[in-house]
Amino acid sequence: MHRATAIAHPNIAFIKYWGHADAALHLPANPSVSMVLDCLQTRTTVGFGALRGDEVVIDGVPASPAARVRVSEHLDRVRALAGIDLRARVRSESNFAAGAGLASSASAFAALTLAATVALGLDLSLEQLSALARLGSGSACRSIPDGFVEWTVQPDRSSTAHSIAPPEHWTLCDCIALVSTRHKEVSSIGGHEAAPSSPLHTARVRDATLQLPACRRAIEQRNLVALGRIAERDAVMMHAVAMTSAPPIYYWTAETMRVVRAVVEWRQAGLPVYYTIDAGPNVHCLCETAYGDEVQRRLASLPGVEQVLVACPGSGARLTDDHVS
Ligand code: DP6
Repeated sequence: MHRATAIAHPNIAFIKYWGHADAALHLPANPSVSMVLDCLQTRTTVGFGALRGDEVVIDGVPASPAARVRVSEHLDRVRALAGIDLRARVRSESNFAAGAGLASSASAFAALTLAATVALGLDLSLEQLSALARLGSGSACRSIPDGFVEWTVQPDRSSTAHSIAPPEHWTLCDCIALVSTRHKEVSSIGGHEAAPSSPLHTARVRDATLQLPACRRAIEQRNLVALGRIAERDAVMMHAVAMTSAPPIYYWTAETMRVVRAVVEWRQAGLPVYYTIDAGPNVHCLCETAYGDEVQRRLASLPGVEQVLVACPGSGARLTDDHVS
């Protein structure tokens, strides 16, 4: 059996990917910027051999039919590239809850892409890996490179993510207030599809595209005030698009709003912290690492916050010999 194992982390976007320019190709409606989250991780082993079908086990449990199909379709892309028609045994483990707005599909498809390509003997560049991961899940392309990452679409419609700064560039941290780890009711796929039905979508896509250079500059200059303002505004706009889509999608809960209000109050009282929210109710709070303990402590004391995870800028997808059994 040809086997390889890869580790990848999810990422948090400061300018979000929400809505497609081309759904089949997972081309985003706007470019986006994110940070790889080091302490959350997915480890995936892929072995190809003489099997009757693809076997997919996630966190020790056979994958749901829908998840298995999504993984198999991605493996088909890798098999087609390698010109090898073997079925695969996939074993994947994450140290965080899937489907709760913690970008589990990003780390999952980044790790799957690297492990599957290496197991079939392909030697792809970072750009090629990122473009391939994108076809599994859009945001996965941003979990292939290191640290702070930008995902763009070129005029010829090629689309990959690249690193704009390494993890050690900035001691930023993301204190993630978990208000629910329940599987979200509407997947981000549904959200991307519904986005154009919102009258706010075109305005957000235009604004996100215009804000991109300022977001990149804020990262380059380690300017939290500038980054925080851009990230908060784009997160609220993304959720405004979701809430005004047909049918509307409400990811926020009362607990989400409680954390948002607290972050704004703390900031007004002098604590430099900003928030962003992915396709779920949990709130990502961005601050310098020096304030990480204080932000974590305050978040943990809020009613409705079940747990606080703290993540720093992390590395991109990489191989390991520590296989998932
Ligand atoms: C809100 O990458 O999960 O996290 O391409 O359908 O797999 P698919 O969507 P996905 O969408 C992520 C949406 C987001 C924003 C972001 O990470 O940019």
